Amino acid sequence: MHDDDMTGDYGTAGEDDTLSAYPQNGERDVEKTLRPRRLAEFVGQPRVREQLELVLESARRRGVPPDHVLLSGPPGLGKTSLAMIIAAELDAAIRITSGPALERAGDLAAMLSNLAEGDVLFIDEIHRIARPAEEMLYLAMEDFRVDVVVGKGPGATSIPLEIAPFTLVGATTRSGALTGPLRDRFGFTGQMEFYADSELDQVVKRAAEILGIGIDPAGSAEIARRSRGTPRIANRLLRRVRDYAEVRADGRITLDVTRAALAVYDVDELGLDRLDRAVLTALVQSFGGGPVGVSTLAVAVGEEPATVEEVCEPYLVRAGMLARTPRGRVATATAWEHLGLRPPENAGRVDQSALSD
Ligand SMILES: Nc1ncnc2c1ncn2[C@@H]1O[C@H](COP(=O)(O)OP(=O)(O)OP(=O)(O)O)[C@@H](O)[C@H]1O
Ligand SMILES: [Mg+2]
Repeated sequence: MHDDDMTGDYGTAGEDDTLSAYPQNGERDVEKTLRPRRLAEFVGQPRVREQLELVLESARRRGVPPDHVLLSGPPGLGKTSLAMIIAAELDAAIRITSGPALERAGDLAAMLSNLAEGDVLFIDEIHRIARPAEEMLYLAMEDFRVDVVVGKGPGATSIPLEIAPFTLVGATTRSGALTGPLRDRFGFTGQMEFYADSELDQVVKRAAEILGIGIDPAGSAEIARRSRGTPRIANRLLRRVRDYAEVRADGRITLDVTRAALAVYDVDELGLDRLDRAVLTALVQSFGGGPVGVSTLAVAVGEEPATVEEVCEPYLVRAGMLARTPRGRVATATAWEHLGLRPPENAGRVDQSALSD
């Protein structure tokens, strides 16, 4: 399985960023080691897990490939892991590709015609698939058929080609960017949520065991708490704290070691990353706490609006620091306080009925 050639826009960051939710240089091998292999090993996401269990079990009983599955949510929450688990639970082979790799319909046609019955086809970053390939996918998902166009101009003919019944698993950080027809062809959408601290605690303990790292409960709880609700970050912080424990202490991860290590790596109390902090700081200092439009905010921090919207905002909203309102983004009193500032009288007092996302 070569899940390391899936690269999104920001799939391979040039510089190392301890808090990024995206995989960093050289991290994919460790991720493979730490990836849960079966549904039962997969921590958290109880809702998606239960729903998926039903979809898979019922297909197994009926002896047919299950409906196509779409997994949606911020980076590092386990979409790729789940896709591989689906294949493992079905005892099926998995073929892996990504939206950006399917530039020409021919690329997809080749992939589809090589599928065997019951195979899982995993398309990462599926919202970035090119239009012609997307249209080919409609027919493939619905009728297990592709139309191959032969020739050009008026003499062109399309030859229908049967493909083996398969299950498509799509992953996206941006389900809103999927076209309606594509979204409608998935029988099941798993909406991945940020993890609770107690779930991340289990993720950290499991990874520590696999990597043979000695860790105190207070140490793993602290790492979990500062991991931004994201397993990928939890596993990374664990490795950085391990480094510190080995070099500056006796190798065991305690609460004190964890705190000292995270201070060195500039991980703040809540685990906010550089971009999160930049967004909050801009919102508070340059725009008086908002409301301000997301594109203006993105320009202020030198990022793409999509990145601010898909990567940064979901966690800030969940952490209760940012509110999305029809008039723009607003910093809550918690955000001001987190930046060590006194919130203005009316900070973040948003009319609840006006809240939207
Ligand atoms: N539920 C989980 N239990 C244990 N570990 C997990 C879980 N989810 C994710 N991880 C860990 O986090 C890492 C990242 O997960 P994964 O690659 O599946 O995320 P992703 O959602 O596909 O991210 P991206 O959007 O960047 O592709 C995995 O290597 C795995 O070690
Ligand atoms: Mg992934």
